[in-house]
Amino acid sequence: MMIPYNVEAIREDFPILTKPINNNQLVYLDNGASAQKPKEVIETVSHFYLDEYANVHRGLYSLSNQATEKYESVREIIREFINAESTKEIVYTTGSTEGINMVAYGWAEPRLKEGDEVILTLLEHHSNIVPWNILRDKIGIKLKWVLPDEDGNIFPEDFVPLISPRTRLIAVTHTSNVMGTILDIKDICGIAHKNGIPVLADASQSAVHMPIDVQELGVDFLVITGHKLYGPTASGALYIHAKHHNDFVPFKGGGNMIKEVKQDYVTYNTIPHMLEAGTTAIAQMIGLGTALNYITKIGIERIHTHEKKLLDYTKLRLLDLKFVRVHGDPLQKCAIFSFTLKDGGHPHDLSTILDQKGIAVRAGHHCAQPLMDHLQVSATCRVSFGLYNTIEEVDQLVDGLHLCHRLLN
Ligand code: ALA
Repeated sequence: MMIPYNVEAIREDFPILTKPINNNQLVYLDNGASAQKPKEVIETVSHFYLDEYANVHRGLYSLSNQATEKYESVREIIREFINAESTKEIVYTTGSTEGINMVAYGWAEPRLKEGDEVILTLLEHHSNIVPWNILRDKIGIKLKWVLPDEDGNIFPEDFVPLISPRTRLIAVTHTSNVMGTILDIKDICGIAHKNGIPVLADASQSAVHMPIDVQELGVDFLVITGHKLYGPTASGALYIHAKHHNDFVPFKGGGNMIKEVKQDYVTYNTIPHMLEAGTTAIAQMIGLGTALNYITKIGIERIHTHEKKLLDYTKLRLLDLKFVRVHGDPLQKCAIFSFTLKDGGHPHDLSTILDQKGIAVRAGHHCAQPLMDHLQVSATCRVSFGLYNTIEEVDQLVDGLHLCHRLLN
């Protein structure tokens, strides 16, 4: 029997949600930027520092051994969460940005030559644009862009005309952080692999809303970021399919990533450790393990169903607001909406007015300036939902938007 989704009980796990903001209870609708943390995660991190802290992989004493065991056990939690074949395919990172940079400098830079091509989409976050731009400046690679249609859709076949004998990688978001568009990564991988091209998927926005199965998707590389998954900042993971392990060079040099260091040579550890130089974010990764267990305990499918209700309801309510222009209406979508006021009113002003009602939304370019240019706006207002949001909060948002309209027109 399916247990009903008890959003009120879930909200009790997040102490910050009862916090008054400008004399109103917080309505947190900026989950795309970062999600709030359940007590279990906060307590795990605090308990680790209070009772269990030591550096990992270095000490021979009990505290260090126990910390190492706890830290390393998170690899299995992540493996299971994204259904990788082996924990050796899970590299710890400080988030998606670091994961994508690892692929850019650890895998692409030593392999790509001037004139080689990387295909991106206009839906990418800057973290999946800037590293490729740096390689464009450094080695002269060419970037090709898949454009969304007017509803914000991108389909797998849109990649076909851009593929050439010089295409070396398709680096693509799984879900747009601006419009919520979900891309069909499995079919994109099918097309790419027929042409011998690997695929990097940015699952920063998707992993918190839907199940991720890297084997089913068929991706070569995939990044997730802990702070959007109800976990600590500076935690995350890069999945690297085992067949690419020997193609990586070190991303950073330092402790833990070596086998042997001599005056005249260095040999390196294998992946994942080769890419994890120095003392990493130990407590944060342990906190991420708790966050992923928390999501699994509730059930990602049930979270998806709950958020789908929020999505459908928000869509209807926003459609009703004749003074609001929603950017994009993709066929496959997560509960993320970007909008502007038709008669003017800067998104920053919207955000400031909503904040007076305790409603937290993001306004700006959302680290997606090429998409903003394409939409011919400099900024939008964005709401992005999480597992603890409610229908009543959507109503509060709509009331807040009426107020914005009154004050700004
Ligand atoms: N990438 C985050 C966002 O979309 C910060 O807001």
